[in-house]
Amino acid sequence: MRRLTFACLRELSANHFTSGADLAKKFAISRSAVSDALKVADQLGVTVFSLTRRGYRLGTPIDFLDLDPIRTQLRAQSKRINLSIVDSIDSTNSAVMLQAALNAPTGTCLAAEMQTAGRGRRGRSWQSGLGMSLTFSLLWRFDKGAAALGGLSLAVGLAVANALRELGVPAELKWPNDILVDDKKLGGILIETQGDMLGPTAAVIGIGLNFRLSDSLRAEIDQSVTCIVEALTDNGMQKFVMTRNDLLGAILRHLVGILDQFAETGFAPMRDPWRALHAFEGRMVDVIGPAGSYAAKVVDVAPDGTLLVDRGTGREPITAAELSLRITTKSAVRI
Ligand code: BTN
Repeated sequence: MRRLTFACLRELSANHFTSGADLAKKFAISRSAVSDALKVADQLGVTVFSLTRRGYRLGTPIDFLDLDPIRTQLRAQSKRINLSIVDSIDSTNSAVMLQAALNAPTGTCLAAEMQTAGRGRRGRSWQSGLGMSLTFSLLWRFDKGAAALGGLSLAVGLAVANALRELGVPAELKWPNDILVDDKKLGGILIETQGDMLGPTAAVIGIGLNFRLSDSLRAEIDQSVTCIVEALTDNGMQKFVMTRNDLLGAILRHLVGILDQFAETGFAPMRDPWRALHAFEGRMVDVIGPAGSYAAKVVDVAPDGTLLVDRGTGREPITAAELSLRITTKSAVRI
């Protein structure tokens, strides 16, 4: 049923009605099978209007993922990425972790129209509805051991922010690996690894970006969030249209470049470009750890990606596993 639902949704537009008869003919099924397939659309978070004698229309447009425009955006890097697109999956990270265990090569990438059990950092869930998020995972293999992967999530964040900026979204970064616009979270990165400390390591790089946020989805997320559509809207007008295909292709292209460089040099040479996009650079923050929180100024990031803060007693390092940050101004961001 889900497969047919996705197939029918792909044929629908938000601008005009498509008749049930046309859909039935296209998929060689009955009109009642079309009706049944579209009845479950609301379970996917999609509104479909239906009118007798006119057919079906989407409440909000969905730009489905499509290999051709993604490859166009990837340009020469297209041959480095083996991309599959699925309608629905529990988590692209879980799926690519399995593929990694079965020896899938570097560049294996899985993008999902929607995830049913998307995972975030620190055991959180990653919420998204059909067409509302860009969710994908990329497998990349490194040969210098897990210890050499310090700063990988920062490098990935830099690639994502650079791709967004190339397409006109003023993205910034929040250590260790959030993507922000206007201090609100646009997306996040979840990196999981397989392998040993010294030998070959497989990194599964999962990226989730809010593309369009419905009121109900926004209400489910317990932090200050934004989305691409909002970031491109000025005075109620969307400045230009960007598709999820453009965005996915551009991010993958930037990722290939940065991951190649990271494999050679690690994070160190990316430090300055990363700091230039760090939304918290030089700002006072609350550093929140298991033992409580304290105010400190963000002063630097080390060559291995460790954050350096100063609470009046000199520089001190913070690693991703230990602490998180909170802005101490009125426009507080929940992290
Ligand atoms: C975070 O900010 O907590 C990280 C969110 C990462 C979400 C992405 S969506 C694609 C991939 N699959 C998952 O289950 N999670 C990551």
